[in-house]
Amino acid sequence: MYKILTIVGARPQFIKAAAVSRAILDEFSTVLNEVIVHTGQHYDENMSQVFFDELEIPRPAVNLAVKASSHGAMTGRMLEQIEELILSEQPDAILIYGDTNSTLAGALAASKLHVPVFHVEAGLRSFNMKMPEEVNRILSDRVSSLLFCPTDSAAENLSAEGINQGVSVVGDVMFDVALFYQDLAKEKSRLIGELDLSGTKYVLATCHRAENTDSFERLSEILRGLAAIAEQYPVVLPLHPRTKKLIENYELSNLLAKIVLLDPLPYLDMIALEQGATAIVTDSGGVQKEAFFCGVPCITMRDETEWIETVALGANTLTGADAGKILSAFESSQSSESSRWAAKPYGDGQASKAIAQHMINFLNSKEGS
Ligand code: UD1
Ligand code: UDP
Repeated sequence: MYKILTIVGARPQFIKAAAVSRAILDEFSTVLNEVIVHTGQHYDENMSQVFFDELEIPRPAVNLAVKASSHGAMTGRMLEQIEELILSEQPDAILIYGDTNSTLAGALAASKLHVPVFHVEAGLRSFNMKMPEEVNRILSDRVSSLLFCPTDSAAENLSAEGINQGVSVVGDVMFDVALFYQDLAKEKSRLIGELDLSGTKYVLATCHRAENTDSFERLSEILRGLAAIAEQYPVVLPLHPRTKKLIENYELSNLLAKIVLLDPLPYLDMIALEQGATAIVTDSGGVQKEAFFCGVPCITMRDETEWIETVALGANTLTGADAGKILSAFESSQSSESSRWAAKPYGDGQASKAIAQHMINFLNSKEGS
């Protein structure tokens, strides 16, 4: 039996981990013992616990309770505690997801103790080193022994950096999760009815990226863009706590007057809203892909994206933080042909099983050597 220490801490990581944990429990539990560690990066009930409950993710064995603070302090505190845990738990490998500070802390702690690092969602690049996520990705990939790429373009990015060993294109675990829950979401979520939006065209929006929220100019442009769309159709905005705080600090609440504001949503309500939307306007990585999975046009309020396939296929438009561009991209999106969503660049919904099998093969070969 191999012991894997999984490090998660932020909302999208719980959702990604749900897919792999399920695959491990369903098919590989005689070979893999997964111990989940929650760093505490996200801690509100609706940013954390709700996903463990709804997606039936095994309870974390430990919560390090490292609340968000400056990047260095947060990553440093996590690093110190994960190092101690690795020493006491003696895992055969560490499993990390995505590109948050929790990802980097796990990668650094394990690699310094010569414990293999397995990275899910490896190889993504925005080529914008000002994004904290880009730094986290590049450093995590550099020290990983197994690099699970969601797309061919991610593997090409790694190859361009000279990383070819341990790389496999397995597909996107978020696609696995979306496929698993999409029908259940339609069946169980009552939110569209509760918001009185059944049979109504509406737009779903999210915004939380540091590059957008930490700039008064960018955040005001974004809210102006959403307000302009809200003149035509209801705009539903489940608000990330980071964005909520900054809107208050910048005194921008007046721009929200016509927007349907919600607290962060549980996953099933979120994907039910995504499925029913006429367009999705976002700066989230995960939400861009989910828009693609459910065939809804996406408008991405960023200057670049890691999910380049969605843009190349004409299903996603980059607008940056520009109110005029956000509105006109929304208007153009309403005449998109459905053929844009025909391609399947994110795998076959079996990424999690492939990841579990690759981990076992790696650990078997290490044991035999
Ligand atoms: C983090 C990730 C980002 C990811 C996002 C997913 C990093 C550098 N960033 O960004 O890549 O896209 O998670 O949502 O790791 N807060 C709360 N309650 C919570 C969580 C956060 O109030 O449960 C507030 C706090 O004021 C905190 C702020 O949000 O300071 C930012 O949280 P943090 O985890 O630092 O970054 P995110 O913007 O959530
Ligand atoms: N999500 C959710 N409720 C919300 C907003 C997002 O369940 O109110 C889900 C969303 O469906 C996707 C994931 O959270 O699966 C994306 O996380 P987020 O946007 O926080 O981070 P990113 O993907 O940009 O790193």
